Amino acid sequence: MSSPSTSAHRPTDTHRESRKVQEMKAIRIHAFGGPEVLAYEEVSRPIPGDDEVLVKVHAASVNPVDVATRAGYLQGMIDIKLPHTPGLDLAGVVEAVGADVTSVAVGDQVYAYSNIARQGAYAEYAVVSAGEVARKPKTVDFVNAASIPLAGITAWQALKIAGVQQGQTVLIHGAGGGTGSFAVQFAHVQGARVIATASTDKAAYLKTLGADEVIDYTATRFEDVVRDVDVVVDLVGGDVTARSLGVLKPGGTFVTPIGQPDQAAAAAAGVTASSMFAQASVADLTEIASLIDAGRVKTSVSHVFPLAEARAAQELLERGHMQGKIVLQVAE
Ligand SMILES: NC(=O)c1ccc[n+]([C@@H]2O[C@H](COP(=O)([O-])OP(=O)(O)OC[C@H]3O[C@@H](n4cnc5c(N)ncnc54)[C@H](OP(=O)(O)O)[C@@H]3O)[C@@H](O)[C@H]2O)c1
Repeated sequence: MSSPSTSAHRPTDTHRESRKVQEMKAIRIHAFGGPEVLAYEEVSRPIPGDDEVLVKVHAASVNPVDVATRAGYLQGMIDIKLPHTPGLDLAGVVEAVGADVTSVAVGDQVYAYSNIARQGAYAEYAVVSAGEVARKPKTVDFVNAASIPLAGITAWQALKIAGVQQGQTVLIHGAGGGTGSFAVQFAHVQGARVIATASTDKAAYLKTLGADEVIDYTATRFEDVVRDVDVVVDLVGGDVTARSLGVLKPGGTFVTPIGQPDQAAAAAAGVTASSMFAQASVADLTEIASLIDAGRVKTSVSHVFPLAEARAAQELLERGHMQGKIVLQVAE
C-alpha cells in the first residue's frame, strides 16, 4: 500500500488527463529573426479573462504584419512580449467565455481579428476580447472564414474613411493581394467604378472580383493612364503613395494603411491624404459576413498549410506577389 506522501506526489490518471487537456500545440518565437525562429511547440492553453473568449482555432490566416512582428520590425512601436505566438486572424468554435461576455456563447462558430500584442492565433486555442469576435459567415468553411478578418476590415475601413460613394471612381493599388481582393469587391458592391493595379497575371482574377479596369504595373505607369479619380486606396506604399496624389481630382481622397502620406504634397495637389490602422470591429465583421452570405463578396484562399508548417507559409508570403490569402489549417 502506498504511503499518503507517495500518492500525493504521483499524479493519478485523472490528474494526468486534466493536465494534458490544458496543453496545446502552438507556433512560438523566442527571439526576433527570420522564418527559422518560428517553432512548433507544446504550450499551456490560455485562459480567458472576464471580457474574453477562448476559441478552439480551426484556421488562422497569415498576414504581412505577422512577418513584420516575427522579424522584430515593430519593436519600439508595439510591445511584443517573448515568447510570442503570432497570428491576428482566426476562425473557430467558442470553447469558453468570461463572466462578462454575452455576445457569443460556447459552441458558436466565430471569426476574429485580434490585438497584435496578444498571444495569437497560430495555435490550437486562442483568447480574443469580446470586442474582436463575431459570428463567422455561415456559407464558408473555417479556412475561408479565417482569410477574412484583417484584410476585410482594412479594406472596409479604408473605403469608409474615404467615404466612397456610388458612381465614384476608385483606384486600388496592390489589388490582387489579401487586402486588395476585398477592397476591389467592396468598392464594386458600393457601386464604384474600380481601377486596379497588379502584376500581369492577375488581370483575369481581378475582373472576376469586379474590377472595371486593370493596369499591369510592370508594363504601365498608372499615372500615365489614370487621372481625375475620386479615391485612391494604396496597399503598396513607397513611391506609389507620392505618385498617386497627382491622379486624384481636386478634393479627392487618398488613404493607405502603409506609412504616412506627405501632407504638404497632398495640400499642394488639393487632395486629402490619410493613413489608417485597422481597428477591431464586431460591427464591421458582421457586415462583411452578411455580404459573404449574400453571395456578393467572395473569399480567395490561394494556399493552405498545416499549423506545423507556419514557417513555409510565411516564407511564401515573403516572396511577394500574393493572390488572395494564405491560411493555416489548425483543426479539421
Ligand atoms: N496598417 C494596417 O492596419 C494594415 C492592415 C492590413 C494590411 N496592411 C499592409 O497593407 C499591405 C498589403 O497587405 P496585404 O495583406 O494585401 O498583402 P499581400 O497579400 O502580400 O498583397 C500585396 C499585393 O501587392 C501587389 N503588389 C506589389 N507591388 C505592387 C505595385 N507596385 N503595384 C501594384 N501591386 C503591387 C502584390 O502582387 P503583384 O506584385 O503580383 O501584383 C500583392 O498582390 C501590406 O504592406 C500590409 O502590411 C496594413
